[in-house]
Amino acid sequence: MTFDVEPEVYDRFMGRYGDALGRALADEAGVGRGARALDVGAGTGKLTRVLAERLGEENVAAVDPSEPFVAALRSRFPAADVSPATAEELPFPDDSFDGVFAQLVVNFMRDPDRGVAEMRRVARHGGIVAGAVWDYRGRMTVLRTFWEAAAAIDERGAEARDERTRMRFGNPEEILELWQGTGLDVRGGEIVVSASYEDFDDLWDPFLAAVGPAGDFVVSLEPEAQEALREEYRQRLGAPEGPFELEARAWYAVGTK
Ligand SMILES: C[S@@+](CC[C@H](N)C(=O)[O-])C[C@H]1O[C@@H](n2cnc3c(N)ncnc32)[C@H](O)[C@@H]1O
Repeated sequence: MTFDVEPEVYDRFMGRYGDALGRALADEAGVGRGARALDVGAGTGKLTRVLAERLGEENVAAVDPSEPFVAALRSRFPAADVSPATAEELPFPDDSFDGVFAQLVVNFMRDPDRGVAEMRRVARHGGIVAGAVWDYRGRMTVLRTFWEAAAAIDERGAEARDERTRMRFGNPEEILELWQGTGLDVRGGEIVVSASYEDFDDLWDPFLAAVGPAGDFVVSLEPEAQEALREEYRQRLGAPEGPFELEARAWYAVGTK
């Protein structure tokens, strides 16, 4: 269970990119005051917070299948409507929301066509369905460099799990096709954000808690191989001594129902 982790661990791992990505995605979607929105696969609530600030917490609903994340969402957003659910089976009637979002989620869905079709179903006519996926093969530095380092120390094991090749929708064509496939009128593009780290260990420590496919891979290694991977990764990131920043690009799609 890739996302059965402490919310704080996720926040340190990918969450530090999520605030800026959430703001940019909400800007692209253009939902504002008076609207009701749903955050699908809300995780620890990075985009949920942006929506709550812009629309009012009581106008925001959030779902996620991970129990620890649902508990964190409930405590962080007490006035929001939070439920344990997957995108493939959204517990809402048709035409319920002005905006329906999935930030960094469609690539984790068991059935993405069905998930996005469900997102469209619960959006009202004229409403927005928006999503974003990391550019795993390109400018998503922290993950791309991790898998490059993993392939250098353990080619076969890394290949089986490598997000650069395994993750779908991490390119502009595929995410737009997914949206178009449900009959949405769609546009898309790129969002580039960055995150700062105090030092290399600030980046590395969350991997040891088995968060995401990369963390799962790290904890599957023997201690010696783990250390070799850590060093390979550090070198490939320029062996930073103190604070540093990394850039991440996501591809997004915004569809109108
Ligand atoms: C990379 S995290 C993104 C979390 C959050 N949206 C963010 O931007 O930080 C992926 C999330 O998708 C959730 N997830 C996995 N499968 C899902 C599904 N079928 N439907 C909805 N969410 C799912 C996971 O539990 C996890 O919280």
